[in-house]
Amino acid sequence: MRIDVVTIFPSYFDGLTLSLLGKAQDSGILDLTVHDLREWTHDRHRTVDDTPYGGGAGMVMKPEPWGEALDSLAAGSPSSDGSPSKSRPTIIFPSPAGEVFTQATARELATREHLIFGCGRYEGIDERVFEYAAELGEVRLISLGDYVLNGGEVAVMAMVEAIGRLIPGVVGNPESLVEESHEDGLLEYASYTKPSVWRDREVPPILLSGNHGAIASWRREQQVERTRARRPDLLGD
Ligand code: ADE
Repeated sequence: MRIDVVTIFPSYFDGLTLSLLGKAQDSGILDLTVHDLREWTHDRHRTVDDTPYGGGAGMVMKPEPWGEALDSLAAGSPSSDGSPSKSRPTIIFPSPAGEVFTQATARELATREHLIFGCGRYEGIDERVFEYAAELGEVRLISLGDYVLNGGEVAVMAMVEAIGRLIPGVVGNPESLVEESHEDGLLEYASYTKPSVWRDREVPPILLSGNHGAIASWRREQQVERTRARRPDLLGD
């Protein structure tokens, strides 16, 4: 999969070279490039924002650098084997005014060949950029949740990690993807490791029983109990 991120703070994304996503880039499974939006400015101050038409607080990101960035990144949109792709990119703008990102969204986006993330700052991006982007690909405005961040960078970090780990080959043992929170609509069960007694606290004896059937049902009950206590909305209660 190819991922391009456009931001005025490229160093936010340094962390994506670590751990599993770093390895995926080294092995060529993931082709991730972070671009500075200011590369597509032409004035001495590399200006990316201006005052809002109609007045109001704050600044709005200018359309011209975004237009050039999207033209350049959407052109050719090569597939993972380097050949030109027939498919158009999916262009994602993180926004508190977007659809909420869930595990289902991550699963859907993990099937795409080319994702472009555009990180807005200030009071947002000139609305015409979203209209123009729709001529180049599928546009999605996506929110991390019902709260406001200072910009899209942290949201894009979270989305790239959630999507990236679902690309086949990124997580070494694919079974570990199955038994986790949100994969089957429930929260995950509690995990324990050695020692079996720690500071007078015992591991639930059933986990030491060797009875795989009983362990599986205990874990399932745990999932349902936890989900009911912490996230009843997931059970539709
Ligand atoms: N930018 C600012 N707040 C955001 C949020 N909650 N989700 C995605 N992008 C954002």
